[in-house]
Amino acid sequence: MRNIEIFDTTLRDGEQSPGCSMNLREKLEVAKRLERLYPDVIEAGFPASSPGDFQAVKSIGDLITECTVAGLCRCLEKDIDAGWEALRGAAHPRLHVFLATSPIHLEYKLKISPDQMLEQAVSAVKYAKKFCSDVEFSAEDASRSDPDFLCRVFGAVIQAGASVVNVPDTTGYAMPEEFAGLIRRIKGHIGNKAKISVHCHNDLGLAVANSLAAVGAGADQVECAINGIGERAGNASLEEIVMGLRVRRDFLQADTRINSSQIYTTSRLVSQVTGVKVQPNKAIVGENAFAHEAGIHQHGLLANRETYEIMTPASIGIPKNRMVLGKHSGKHAFEERLRELGLPAESLETAFLQFKILADKKKIVSDLDIEALVLGESGASPETYHLDGWVVNSGSSFTSMSTIRLRYKDEKILEQASVGHGPIDAAFKAINQIIGKEPALEHYELRAITGGEDAQGETMVRIIWEGRRRNGRGVSTDVIESSIKAYIAAINALET
Ligand code: KIV
Ligand code: ZN
Repeated sequence: MRNIEIFDTTLRDGEQSPGCSMNLREKLEVAKRLERLYPDVIEAGFPASSPGDFQAVKSIGDLITECTVAGLCRCLEKDIDAGWEALRGAAHPRLHVFLATSPIHLEYKLKISPDQMLEQAVSAVKYAKKFCSDVEFSAEDASRSDPDFLCRVFGAVIQAGASVVNVPDTTGYAMPEEFAGLIRRIKGHIGNKAKISVHCHNDLGLAVANSLAAVGAGADQVECAINGIGERAGNASLEEIVMGLRVRRDFLQADTRINSSQIYTTSRLVSQVTGVKVQPNKAIVGENAFAHEAGIHQHGLLANRETYEIMTPASIGIPKNRMVLGKHSGKHAFEERLRELGLPAESLETAFLQFKILADKKKIVSDLDIEALVLGESGASPETYHLDGWVVNSGSSFTSMSTIRLRYKDEKILEQASVGHGPIDAAFKAINQIIGKEPALEHYELRAITGGEDAQGETMVRIIWEGRRRNGRGVSTDVIESSIKAYIAAINALET
């Protein structure tokens, strides 16, 4: 059985896609969760691209011990200096340098000749190698490059010290057979002198197929992102690659070190902090991935689950959604349940308090409710503003009116009233008056976490203020309250 290394780029390629930006606190929360998932490499960002990215790579590098932490750099000394400055404190640092090899990128974007490209790549790898023993070189747009030139470049950068060479299908253009052929050709050229990595985008919906075809052809590392987030149509989805390899170990004779029981909660956390929902029919982590509707399927499942299920929900850590605890349950039982669900118990006090409040309101507190409580708390920004109370009056032929009371930095109580087009608008306007800002509401979404008339509502909002986008999430048995909480969470994210 070959071991395929998983290089997670959720915090770099994933984070740079529209609407997926995360603040430092959110990135650290995702990095901690990723460490439990246990990929070989976490790409934490692009240090030279902004002070915020630099700080994120540095903080993640200082925090993570169980995975290699990589920082992306162009083939420029100033980028590599910033990359090393950010990563020098990491337990296992990797400098990831990239330069395009395709004719279209060389001619129109970089305006350099193939020979100049080769020289720049080699000197960047040599420079990076002075600081860091683990250097990866990526040939951007490799799949649209001349294969002979690509092999020449890889041979030269390996000679210069690269231990991993990455073959990105940057534009998602490749077909599985074709991409496998390219990997075989590169493998034939470089042998075992360096690891071969692949990084596939999903423009034609083939990122996972291309990555798995590459593994079959000899690739050693796959670059991918949770929920498949990434530039344009996204990256290959981590959960699909991992479960594809695990479920079909017999076919590819390969597996990863990933702790698959952490897949579901990691997916939920990434969706929550980015505000980007997972489509219901998404493989592995979509809401319907394990739902069986047709009677004939249900009949088969009852006789034997394997009639229609090739993997179990438990294998990716999906909570069973059974009634677990009630209002008389103690903290110990609650903590035990969190452990069984693979949810971090670091916020036990607050989570338990919220559980008690919920148990007073709901007849049945399910695993999904508990998961929503805990995920809601982790990754949330410190509460500059805390919801102290609210009233909304709304009806068919009356203007909606709302009064909101917030506690500011635990110091003073601020209260405002406003009218609006509907209860949510009135509430958000009252909050705007309190904070003295009018952020644009870019996205608003409401869903029920479980079934039943006492189900909790989960609201996701995305706001923009002075060019900064922030997400917020709120959960409550009252949908107006969950909306208000989500809006305040986004405002608090703006404040950090
Ligand atoms: O898609 C791409 O080519 C990349 C590289 C920087 C690895 O993200
Ligand atoms: Zn990419």
